[in-house]
Amino acid sequence: MNGTQTIKRVLRRATGRDRPKTVAPVPLPDYEIPVPEAEPLAPVTLKLRDDRRVNVRHICPEDADRLVELFWRLSADTRWRRFFVPLDNVDSELVRRTARRMAAIDRRCEVALAAVACEDGHERIVAVARFACPKAADETVEGSIVVRDDYQGAGLGSQLLHLLIRAARMRGLRTMTIFTQGDNPAILTIIRRMGVPYTTSFATGVYEITLHLAG
Ligand SMILES: CC(C)(COP(=O)(O)OP(=O)(O)OC[C@H]1O[C@@H](n2cnc3c(N)ncnc32)[C@H](O)[C@@H]1OP(=O)(O)O)[C@@H](O)C(=O)NCCC(=O)NCCS
Repeated sequence: MNGTQTIKRVLRRATGRDRPKTVAPVPLPDYEIPVPEAEPLAPVTLKLRDDRRVNVRHICPEDADRLVELFWRLSADTRWRRFFVPLDNVDSELVRRTARRMAAIDRRCEVALAAVACEDGHERIVAVARFACPKAADETVEGSIVVRDDYQGAGLGSQLLHLLIRAARMRGLRTMTIFTQGDNPAILTIIRRMGVPYTTSFATGVYEITLHLAG
């Protein structure tokens, strides 16, 4: 499923026009992203510009409640930029269901990195970067990233995207596409200065930025 289809699907679900009664299993593609023998991505500690530290690790099913909490702490603007639909009055059951699905990662065909901070003695997810493989091995993977508002602007997004790209390269993937609105200076700034070659195209208000991971 490409990004435009994803956006349309999210839009239909958010407006209740296509809300499923039960959560259908996500069909697996007919190939697997090789999981590296030694996975150097998790956990790593990132130091932010304001001296805060977060640990990055792979998401696990036990993170579902943390993803729900993260969602409710995102501003309307951040939700819009990540999910492409206004999610002010979203159904809480839909949020829980989606979080469960997004936490139940199949490492053979998905990578989801969580940046975790310890706050008030609780482990909280403050950012997530992820990609899911497409239906065929030669298609591009679709990457996405979100950082909780009170952690934005401190260098977390840049570092996390670097880790995501590293994970994609380790799996031999050649391209990663990120969809964004045209007026998203933060993600555009990050991508421009990352040093990874990229191409862009623009359709129906959405920028498609394709990172060329092979160099
Ligand atoms: C995009 C996003 C992940 C960036 O995360 P972040 O932790 O703020 O990223 P960083 O701090 O590493 O870098 C962001 C850069 O954009 C710059 N920036 C942010 N807003 C800006 C603006 N309005 N104009 C110009 N630059 C801006 C920041 O100053 C920073 O640059 P700097 O390091 O030179 O100061 C975060 O803003 C976010 O979650 N946005 C909502 C979801 C989203 O847009 N996802 C991308 C599409 S899937």
